[in-house]
Amino acid sequence: MEYYAIVLAAGEGKRMNAGKNKQFIQVGKKPLVIHTLNVFAQDDWCKSIILVINSNEKKRMKELIDNHPVGKSVILVEGGKERQDSVFHGLNCIDDPEGIVFIHDGARPFVSRENLHQLATITKEKKAAILAVPVTDTIKQLKGENLTTLKRETLWAAQTPQAFRVDAIRAAHEKAAIENYLGTDDSSLVERLGYPVEIVKGSYDNIKLTTPEDLQRAQAFLKEKSDEREK
Ligand code: CTP
Ligand code: MG
Repeated sequence: MEYYAIVLAAGEGKRMNAGKNKQFIQVGKKPLVIHTLNVFAQDDWCKSIILVINSNEKKRMKELIDNHPVGKSVILVEGGKERQDSVFHGLNCIDDPEGIVFIHDGARPFVSRENLHQLATITKEKKAAILAVPVTDTIKQLKGENLTTLKRETLWAAQTPQAFRVDAIRAAHEKAAIENYLGTDDSSLVERLGYPVEIVKGSYDNIKLTTPEDLQRAQAFLKEKSDEREK
C-alpha cells in the first residue's frame, strides 16, 4: 500500500505564544516539525512527503531539514492564508488522481504507524477515512440563550491524518472554493460532497500541539518514552 503525505506547517502558531511558528519549537531533542516528518519518513508505505510552509520561512525550513535529515526527500510548497488554502496548494503537487493522500498537521507528532496503516488500508477501499477519538467531555451547545446537551455517544473528536483518494479531495476543495466554504478540517469538505467518510479510532496520544500546556504534555510524553527505552 502507498500514500502521499501532505504535512501542514504554514500556520503562525499564535495560540502557542512562542514568538515564532510553533513548528520550530524544540520538543525533546528535535524541532516539532522534524518529529512529524520522521513519522512519515520512517513509514515504508509513504512514498512522498509534501511539506507546506510559510513563504517567508523557506530558507529557515530548508536549513532545518538540512540539519535534521529525515531520510526521505521532502518537497517544499508555499502555503496560503487559511489552513484550507495550504492543503489546496499541497494537493496541487500531486498528479495521481487514483492515489491516496494523507493530510496531516505538522503540529501532531505522535501519530502511530499502526493508525497510518489502518487509514491507508480502509481508504484504498472506501475513498475517505479519518482518525478520530470518542469525546470524553459532555459537549454543550449554546445557540443564542438556548443551552442543549449533545449525545456524547455520537460524538467524535476529529484528528489528522485525514486520508482521501486524490480525485475526491481535490473535487471537494474545488467545490468549497467555488462556494466560498471554509471548513475546519478536510473531511468536512468531502462530507459536503455526499461521500461517506469512515472513522478509524485513533489514540488520545495523537494530540495537536496548540497551546503551551500541550507543549508541556508533549515534552513529558517524550521523556516517558525515552525513560522507558533506557530501562
Ligand atoms: N496551517 C497551515 N496553513 C495555515 C494555517 C495552519 O499549514 N494557513 C497548519 C499549521 O502549521 C498546523 C496545522 O495547520 O500544523 C493545524 O493548525 P493550527 O494548530 O491552528 O496551527 P496554527 O494555525 O499555526 O496555530 P494558531 O491557529 O494558534 O495560529
Ligand atoms: Mg490555526
